[in-house]
Amino acid sequence: MKLLAHILCLCLALAWVQSEEHAAAVLDRCEGLEMDAVAVNEEGIPYFFKGDHLFKGFHGKAELSNESFAELDDHHHLGHVDAAFHMHYEDNPADHDHMFFFLDTKVFSYYQHKLEDGYPKDISEVFPGIPDHLDAAVECPKPECDEDSVIFFKGDDIYHYNVRTKAVDEKEFKSMPNCTSAFRFMDHYYCFHGHMFSKFDPKTGEVHGRYPKEARDYFMRCSKFSDDSDHVERERCSRVHLDAITSDNAGNMYAFRGHHFLRRDEGNDTLKADTIEHAFKELHSEVDAVFSYDGHLYMIKDDHLFLYKVGEPHTHLDGYPKPLKEELGIEGPIEAAFVCEDRHIAHIIKDHKIYEVDLDASPRVAGNEVPIALFKKVDAAMCDALGLKVIVGNHFYHFGSPMLLAASRSLPEQHRVSLELFGCDH
Ligand SMILES: *[C@@H]1O[C@H](CO)[C@@H](O)[C@H](O)[C@H]1NC(C)=O
Ligand SMILES: *[C@@H]1O[C@H](CO)[C@@H](O)[C@H](O)[C@H]1NC(C)=O
Ligand SMILES: *[C@@H]1O[C@H](CO)[C@@H](O)[C@H](O)[C@H]1NC(C)=O
Repeated sequence: MKLLAHILCLCLALAWVQSEEHAAAVLDRCEGLEMDAVAVNEEGIPYFFKGDHLFKGFHGKAELSNESFAELDDHHHLGHVDAAFHMHYEDNPADHDHMFFFLDTKVFSYYQHKLEDGYPKDISEVFPGIPDHLDAAVECPKPECDEDSVIFFKGDDIYHYNVRTKAVDEKEFKSMPNCTSAFRFMDHYYCFHGHMFSKFDPKTGEVHGRYPKEARDYFMRCSKFSDDSDHVERERCSRVHLDAITSDNAGNMYAFRGHHFLRRDEGNDTLKADTIEHAFKELHSEVDAVFSYDGHLYMIKDDHLFLYKVGEPHTHLDGYPKPLKEELGIEGPIEAAFVCEDRHIAHIIKDHKIYEVDLDASPRVAGNEVPIALFKKVDAAMCDALGLKVIVGNHFYHFGSPMLLAASRSLPEQHRVSLELFGCDH
């Protein structure tokens, strides 16, 4: 299996040398790749390693790993990472927030993409008792594990490594498949095997619920998914950020991600999923922001505004799309947009600022801009009778008003998008 993987790697490597374009075609994560290693960076963004390439975040093309981590090349002719994890132990400031990579017999420690002095070192020196040629590794801080630990995987052998005492505890995770990579995301533990994954209990290795599941459905944004992908389940539970969200005047909610959207009708808890292409043909996919105003959905993509009249089916207004600058007085791309109960002001978030556009004015201009200190980037936002929800990655935050969003200096309570907006409990 290992040999086969190596031969496959070599063949792929040859293919890449032959043609960069070909490489992009080979390395399409939406085809269902088996990743070599997965770990989050300091900002919680997952890095998926495959061969000598790296996928950052949940969508986008692969880049060469050595562009971000140059030294990984120097000691390794095959150019792949066996395992990786993100050290997260606040009691241990020397290593806190470091990313560790394992290649054959060596371990590399990076802090903010810079290799730490003295690395790479032998695995046996830094993690005594842990074997070479690992398959996977994942951090496991207290109280998720009994002690601040790292869990290492090789074949069906599992090692709990105590970060403080360096004690190694060998475990048997009977119900779990052999992991080819593993990571901790939002306090949950995932073992990847092939292009599937299972969520497991880090103490016991138990897998609860219906696993394995497709890694693509949860951790990637694809234009197409496998034929047996359940669209509603996938879109409710995906950990990929939303592009946009809004609710129309009647209280129906629409949440957009990539090529798909979820809809919940007022007075009905059942979510429905559809492709954007089907319901909003002209827009096609990957919208930046959507708000609803006066019986219409204002859908913004790059520099253009698409205007749909709400109804079944939604109808695209003649003459649209029109340039965003002409219609709302602001250049794209924008991050999020929403209208609150005040009804005729669109609030637009772009580059750490929030702008107001009076929708009754002619021509419309974006003004009154106020900086937002709390977030580097906002994915989506919506405002309804319950107030303003600002969505960043897998979380959303409540604010009483747009003004309070701009004035806030500390994060309000974090809510989970999949659980609290879409009722996905796993
Ligand atoms: C990164 O790797 C590629 C292919 O493996 C190689 O052509 C390139 O020179 C490397 N770049 C650096 C900065 O080492
Ligand atoms: C898991 O790894 C062990 C070696 O540690 C191997 O004997 C076994 O066949 C592997 N299982 C699968 C399903 O690949
Ligand atoms: C809610 O929506 C589902 C799915 O479209 C439908 O089958 C059901 O009849 C609706 N229920 C109500 C109360 O409207």
